[in-house]
Amino acid sequence: MSKKFYITTPIYYVNAHPHIGHAYTTIACDTIARRHRMLGDDTWFLTGTDEHGQKIERAAQAAGKTPQQFTDEISAEFRALWERMGLTHDDFIRTTSERHRQGVQALWRKIRDNGYIYKGTYTGQYCVSDELYVDAVGPGAPCPDCGRPTETVHEENYYFKLSAFQDQLIRLYTEQPDFIRPETRRNEVLSFVRGGLRDLSISRSTFSWGIPVPDDPKHVVYVWLDALANYITALGYGSSDPSKFDKYWPADVHMIGKEIVRFHCVYWPAFLLAAGLPLPKGITAHGWLLFEESKMSKSRGNIVRAETIVDVLGTDALRYFLLREVVFGQDGSFSFDALVQRYNSDLANGLGNLASRTLTMITRYFKGEVPYPSHAAHTPSDAAIADAARKVIADYGTLFDQYQFSRALETAWGLVSAVDKYIVENEPWSLGDKQDEESRSRLATVLYTSAEALRIVTALAHPVMPDATAKIWAQMGLGDIGKFDLTQLQWGQLHLGTKLGEVQAVFPRADKSVVERMQKMEEQSGGTGVPPATIAGGETGASPVQPSAARQPAAGTPPPAAAAKPAATIPDGKISIDDFAKVELRVAQVKTAERVKGTDKLLRLEVDLGTEVRQLVAGIAEAYEPETLIGRKIVIVANLAPRKLRGLESNGMIVAASPEGGKPVLASFLEDVPVGTRLK
Ligand code: ME8
Ligand code: MG
Repeated sequence: MSKKFYITTPIYYVNAHPHIGHAYTTIACDTIARRHRMLGDDTWFLTGTDEHGQKIERAAQAAGKTPQQFTDEISAEFRALWERMGLTHDDFIRTTSERHRQGVQALWRKIRDNGYIYKGTYTGQYCVSDELYVDAVGPGAPCPDCGRPTETVHEENYYFKLSAFQDQLIRLYTEQPDFIRPETRRNEVLSFVRGGLRDLSISRSTFSWGIPVPDDPKHVVYVWLDALANYITALGYGSSDPSKFDKYWPADVHMIGKEIVRFHCVYWPAFLLAAGLPLPKGITAHGWLLFEESKMSKSRGNIVRAETIVDVLGTDALRYFLLREVVFGQDGSFSFDALVQRYNSDLANGLGNLASRTLTMITRYFKGEVPYPSHAAHTPSDAAIADAARKVIADYGTLFDQYQFSRALETAWGLVSAVDKYIVENEPWSLGDKQDEESRSRLATVLYTSAEALRIVTALAHPVMPDATAKIWAQMGLGDIGKFDLTQLQWGQLHLGTKLGEVQAVFPRADKSVVERMQKMEEQSGGTGVPPATIAGGETGASPVQPSAARQPAAGTPPPAAAAKPAATIPDGKISIDDFAKVELRVAQVKTAERVKGTDKLLRLEVDLGTEVRQLVAGIAEAYEPETLIGRKIVIVANLAPRKLRGLESNGMIVAASPEGGKPVLASFLEDVPVGTRLK
């Protein structure tokens, strides 16, 4: 019987370009949605972009664009990437769309009319990066979640009576232990809510990039209330056509990363309870994808783009890697080496090799038709493969439905290895050299058994690797895998006489140079053509893309004039005031400083510019201990194009005197200067 199944990803902020962290969640959901469709469920898969709020407004300002122009561009990037990767979302919601605005306002009215909204004054800290009200820390204190400085907010706001839902929420988590998965996250939420809930400010009035509060347009709706509502507005909640809402709500699963658990597991159910709407059936939080040992994120600048991997190894390789390598729910590291290693061992030498050797032998020895597995020629080894395959069908389904992708795939690949071993032991190539009846029958049985196991793994892996499995399926003469009914998958369904299609390798082996190629593509994407000598730390040879940089002598940061003056075009060594004005020098304050692993010269700094916190990578580690820099006011070139060093994005350059042969000395002030002040 067909069931409905509704799955969502978070809607991604458009202050950053998409990276494989976003792809990770979206791929997991795509895989789940595909499996449900193969099982015949009436499936709805939603993703989209989160486009309002102060963080986005500031990012647009920094880019010199209107918020709408800015969000249009980045939202389109997400959409284009998902399309390029062949993802099968049924809808893509933007929070700046009219349908969303209507739905959010309808939800607000409903909650207000039910008596859960009142007016008050908020004085306290706000973290713009997390768009989070921060309790119990003083002015300027770091956000307990992300560590960035909070801003003091004093505003008349609308409040949501979150405190009224404490008991109901505790009951929900206790009575429905599967509401939050995995259990570690559930326990965290439970203890957070048990600790007491304060009412939540749900409007802002000091900026305007948001959805106007109904009947009081001086206020905009708090961006998290706005964003969470996407899960219902996309279905037409609050519109003239709620048919999708009636059909698909409540969601079967909201898939999210672990850093946004509180919003989804506390605020969202409370909003829904206040509106009298059904709750989602479950929320699943996965871990973080790490790169170079920290969470891959725009603000750290350690991102890897999906495009690079898709271009070089294909979407299936990225999908398989993410789901096989990372234990879903836990953090997992990404590296190009691990990606290529998995690709070669599991795909090129694993599934790909099984497909090509099996199908090639059927072509060679049986004119490309699936042969008859003679009963007389059976041995216990054939039965063992059939039994293993039956067990894999059952176990894979169970593990997959618990979102244990990595164990599910491990199980299926256990069958691939078993069949490989079976082929080696049965030596079909020797049987193929013989012409006697008995050898022919035995050969037929061995190849049928191998092909049937291949068919089963291919069907199970289809949601994970849609392209490659579709090709293998077609090569097996089975037609369109998209039409296959997964509920019917059983051993022994491969029909005798099925005519194979043309056999081609689906996963060509990747050699070592593939790793370098991908690394280069990533470094180039961060280093938008800036001459390396103008970047602090560029001369350490951190970037193999620009070997000329590696040949520069000592560490240190050139004085500002060197950065401003393209010597080749101004022969007399002078520049105009306009030339100088192009260089945006600003006072910044060091918030964090640490050595970049694997180098003696580089420090990673986070500096506060007053309007934003930026990451810089500077070649000053030999001159300064990182701890001594914290709190220090420095001068940076603030409008330098970003560049990647050791995989870390550097967004600006520190100004320092760089004595010949000596250590760099940071420019500084005798008088106190406010952070962000421009030097001119
Ligand atoms: O939080 N590892 O948007 P966001 C794993 N707009 N997953 C990652 C990841 C990483 N390194 N980086 C990003 C927001 N993700 C809000 C959500 S929902 C109503 C509003 C994935 O752009 C992961 O799913 O910061 C994470 O939760 C999400 O992207 C955060 O995206
Ligand atoms: Mg985030």
